[in-house]
Amino acid sequence: MSRLGVNIDHVATIRRARGGVEPDPVTAAAIAELAGADGIIVHLREDRRHIQDRDLKLLRQTVKTRLNLEMAATEEMIAIALSIKPDICTLVPEKRQELTTEGGLDVRINLSLIEKAIESLQDGGIIVSLFIDPDTDQIKAANKIGADYVEIHTGSFAEAKGIKNEDQELIKIENAIKLASKLGMGVNAGHGLNYSNIKKISALGGIEEFNIGHSIISRAVMVGLDRAVRDMVDLVKYA
Ligand code: PXP
Repeated sequence: MSRLGVNIDHVATIRRARGGVEPDPVTAAAIAELAGADGIIVHLREDRRHIQDRDLKLLRQTVKTRLNLEMAATEEMIAIALSIKPDICTLVPEKRQELTTEGGLDVRINLSLIEKAIESLQDGGIIVSLFIDPDTDQIKAANKIGADYVEIHTGSFAEAKGIKNEDQELIKIENAIKLASKLGMGVNAGHGLNYSNIKKISALGGIEEFNIGHSIISRAVMVGLDRAVRDMVDLVKYA
């Protein structure tokens, strides 16, 4: 049975729209946990466009499940992670202009930089996951430099048009899951997953945790966060 990690960045994006104090992502995290989320995920971006340092500090004190910090492998972020000590750090690529994280990390090109980041974080007792495309070479590289987990980027699957293209993307993800598991890494997955496409990907098996943000917060606007999280928990765990 997979777990559900809820990404609450979009709650902070709504707060940002008025530059005030609500809605508070810390409150959202508590509601998501009460509704059955197994983890809370936030991305502290270099430009602080949504989640703020204050959120991270408070979330560390209040999250009772697992706190997963998505971040770029920069010196600033590594220092923050080592002082806050999230349970997991997911290293992601970051571009200032992008609307959201666009692609997976290129582990092969940035091998030594990412390896150093992994070492520092693991020395601080933090589990490290790398957000990568479902690509055999990237998975092998992630394993070579000591990643504990990979988070498979499901964006291409989520955006695939037509069943044939979708199934091709699913095969890539399935192969990625098998290889990562064989190499002894844990497997998470996320990006673009929603109440409909989660069923197919969940059926593959082998994914420890799904990391889902946009679709849950979008549904929450209509039906409330408690209900939106419960609906996704049902799909992830029991579909
Ligand atoms: N995983 C990673 C590494 C991400 O950067 C994001 C987006 O913040 C997600 C998962 C969640 O994606 P979505 O908001 O599309 O569910």
